[in-house]
Amino acid sequence: MHLQAFVIGGFVRDLLLHRDNKQDIDIVVLGSGIDFAHAVAAKLGGDVPVKFFKNFGTAMLNFHGWKIEFVGARKESYRRNSRKPIVENGTLEDDQNRRDFTINAMALDLTEQKYGQLVDPFNGIRDLKDKIIRTPLDADITFSDDPLRMMRAIRFATQLNFTIEQSCFEAIRRNAERISIVSKERVSDEFNLIIQSAMPSKGFKMLDETGILKLIFPEFCELKGAEIIDGKGHKDNFYHTLAVLDNVALVSDNLWLRWAAILHDIAKPLTKKFIQGTGWTFHAHEFKGAKMVPHIFRNLKLPLNEKMKYVEKLVLLHLRPIVLAGDVVTDSAVRRLLFEAGDDIDDLMLLCNADITSKNPDKVKRFMANFIIVRQKLQEIEEKDQLRNWQPPITGEVIMQTFGIPPSKSVGIIKDAITEAILEGAIPNDYEAAYRLMIAEGEKLGFIKRDT
Ligand code: CTP
Repeated sequence: MHLQAFVIGGFVRDLLLHRDNKQDIDIVVLGSGIDFAHAVAAKLGGDVPVKFFKNFGTAMLNFHGWKIEFVGARKESYRRNSRKPIVENGTLEDDQNRRDFTINAMALDLTEQKYGQLVDPFNGIRDLKDKIIRTPLDADITFSDDPLRMMRAIRFATQLNFTIEQSCFEAIRRNAERISIVSKERVSDEFNLIIQSAMPSKGFKMLDETGILKLIFPEFCELKGAEIIDGKGHKDNFYHTLAVLDNVALVSDNLWLRWAAILHDIAKPLTKKFIQGTGWTFHAHEFKGAKMVPHIFRNLKLPLNEKMKYVEKLVLLHLRPIVLAGDVVTDSAVRRLLFEAGDDIDDLMLLCNADITSKNPDKVKRFMANFIIVRQKLQEIEEKDQLRNWQPPITGEVIMQTFGIPPSKSVGIIKDAITEAILEGAIPNDYEAAYRLMIAEGEKLGFIKRDT
């Protein structure tokens, strides 16, 4: 087609960093990106479908698992998800000028004569070496083109373990309020990428220092600070939570487990009390915290589905293994925990382990030792009673049939009594024993077994 084309952006950056790329290639064309994409598809065999968006001058095709995007070089700012159509075609330099960071503005020539040559007008390669995030233009302009780039700067710095150049960082601080014009979905996508990094606390601290955190997630900033009364202080729950989050990140990639870490103490500021003679208490913060989860998820446009339920459950149960470990570990307490946590018991144990951030080595040693006992007991009882996803041996149906009663509160009362008795170890986990108890509990409520 006698057109010049270049690979640009993330692919080039990751190639130079020897970093795994998500199999995304962006190609910028000095001409029509859409026509070029069709020509490439034809060359690849003709049966490769091209998706294109005329308004934006972009086209996309999938090839052997690679997502290849084509765009004509433009003078306008380059933005994904922008609703504004492109206005003016530009040169490669124009296009590179309007990209977010020097390390994302590098291009590799694809023309035959210069194949593989790096076009790097802002010395992105030096910034890659020095591990610096910097904007090609004045940072105020780059960020006003798309304020989400402020979060992208923090995300790249966290993911790649880079530093944001001072004046760029100042610009984020200055423009932080502008994050409010970005859609919440885009904000939470970036936020989740920060959370999925190897050391998410780094990103949280930058979000906090720039003022973005309190705009997007004010509840988290409430965790900050350690009050002292009568010489007694409590830990700063902001830094404690970040330590727990980093600990979880060391052992699991599960984004939702990381969210459980972020939210496990979220209700501490609301439940905090100083009681003379006792000191600081955060009574029932796990219940209140679990109740806050849907509200926070809704605000951040996170999914309101089983992922949220999972986070709620872990927040609610996060103290249980610790309480167990601090006490004599009884079978019934372990059985109850297994019953309530179900399949999420292993994740709960990871969270609890991560929650031990005390600087007191004796305390840590004691907890760890007891934790081993809790784990052993969990395993023992699990093997014996198989309580994961357990259902009591007597169903509501059986209760209704036995006493000839309709669905009612009484059915629940009888069923709960059976569940309780089994969890407490008062009766064995089998049908006969549960049946006998059902008859006794029914009689207490005035029901008589029907003759069948
Ligand atoms: N870009 C930009 N401003 C944005 C988003 C993207 O300038 N707000 C440009 C950058 O040049 C970026 C390229 O578009 O490199 C591709 O964007 P994207 O796929 O979102 O990011 P990547 O850099 O590929 O990084 P990652 O895949 O890790 O998201």
